[in-house]
Parts: sequence; C-alpha cells; structure tokens
Amino acid sequence: MELIVVRPEEFGEAAMNALDRALAATERPSLGIPTGSTPVPLYERLAEITYCFPPGSVCFALDEYVTARADATGTNAAFFRRHWPAHLPTVTTPDAGAADPEAAIAAHCRAIAAHGGLEVVLLGIGRNGHIAFNEPGSERDAGCRVVTLAEETRRAAAADWPEGAPTRGMTIGVREIMAARRAILLVTGPAKAAALRAAITGPVTATLPASYLQEHRSLVIVCDTAAWSSAALQ
Ligand code: PGA
Repeated sequence: MELIVVRPEEFGEAAMNALDRALAATERPSLGIPTGSTPVPLYERLAEITYCFPPGSVCFALDEYVTARADATGTNAAFFRRHWPAHLPTVTTPDAGAADPEAAIAAHCRAIAAHGGLEVVLLGIGRNGHIAFNEPGSERDAGCRVVTLAEETRRAAAADWPEGAPTRGMTIGVREIMAARRAILLVTGPAKAAALRAAITGPVTATLPASYLQEHRSLVIVCDTAAWSSAALQ
C-alpha cells in the first residue's frame, strides 16, 4: 500500500499523478470511474491539461442508482455529463431506468469482463466505509448486483435528489474491485477520516468494505491533510 498525503489544493494534481503512473504501466486499459465530490478536482485537472488516456481506453462507472426518474440530475450518468472531461472516452453507465436492473448491471459487468476486467479502478469511500455501492455487510466475494442503499448513503446524496434519493443501486462488486490490477483510493475532508483510518488500520471486515483494500495487490491512497491529520487519526 502506498499512501500519498497532500494539501487540499494539491489533491487534483496528486490524484492525476497517481492515475498517470498507473496508466503508464499499461496499454489499452479499462478503467473503473467513480462519482461523488471527491474525484471532481481530479476530473477538473484532467480537463484543464487535456490529459489523454492510452488509445483504446474504455471507462466504466462503478455504480448507478436504480430509479424511475432516469433523467434526474442525481444519477451517475448525469454526474458524468456534468463533470467528466469531454475529450476523454465516455464513461459507460448501467441504465438507471432499466426495467430489469439486475440485467442492466449484469450487462455492464459482462462488458467489463469482455475487456479482461478492470486495469485501473479509481475509488472514493463512503463515511460508512462503502466502496462503489458495496455497503457495510458486503462480503469479500460479492459480485456485480443490485443493492439496497444504506441510509447514510442516501442522506449523503440528498442534495442531488430533491424528492429523496433512490433506495436501490447497481454496483460492481467487491470482487471486481479486488480483481482490478491497480486500485487508487481517493479521500478528502475530515468527515472521511474515521472511515479512512478504520479501512487501513482496522480489521479486514464486511462491516467496513473499504478494509478489503488492505489485501489489494496494488493500492495507492491519495488523501488530503484534512482526511489524514484529523483527530480521528491521532
Ligand atoms: P463523495 O462520495 O466523494 O461524494 O464523498 C464518495 C463515496 O461515497 O464513495
């Protein structure tokens, strides 16, 4: 495990450098791409310098909501339309409004598998220790599936869902994350300090799915000083 701690204003650049190192080691990668406020400085930086992925790269969303309001601004597809750099390969998302969400996430994961799995997975972490929508209770071998979202996750998303965040999501599994050749965990802000500390120093447990990353073969954590030096880490 490699840990990179930077000042908040340096976070986007540091995350980009970690991604650049991961991509330098590979050709035609498949990438797992997160949503949320954490990766936004990275995406802004990628746009700013028109950073290019290797030719033939493919990008897959880690997760998506299940909703009848598939055109809502809170979906991950809408997030990528707002925040993902236009010059980079489009991020494929499972269809939020699919009549059969199980089939939608299965098709998403078949597409990932057809590319040999994920070469690089970028991750955020929830305050409850989730990775993608693998909420507490997710087993180490949990695969792609439809899940019930934790109340904390729905609360965190409330601003994007004025009528209430969906109760269900679709996610790639812990299994697909752990199978990725390289993982980069992005963490910012004091609210994530306790989850970060537990993920890297606590027991490996389904109670905190991010703790599985301790066993990942190639993990780089990029975090800011607010997440790292908060009282929770003392
Ligand atoms: P956030 O979400 O970046 O908006 O905090 C991260 C996550 O829940 O994975």
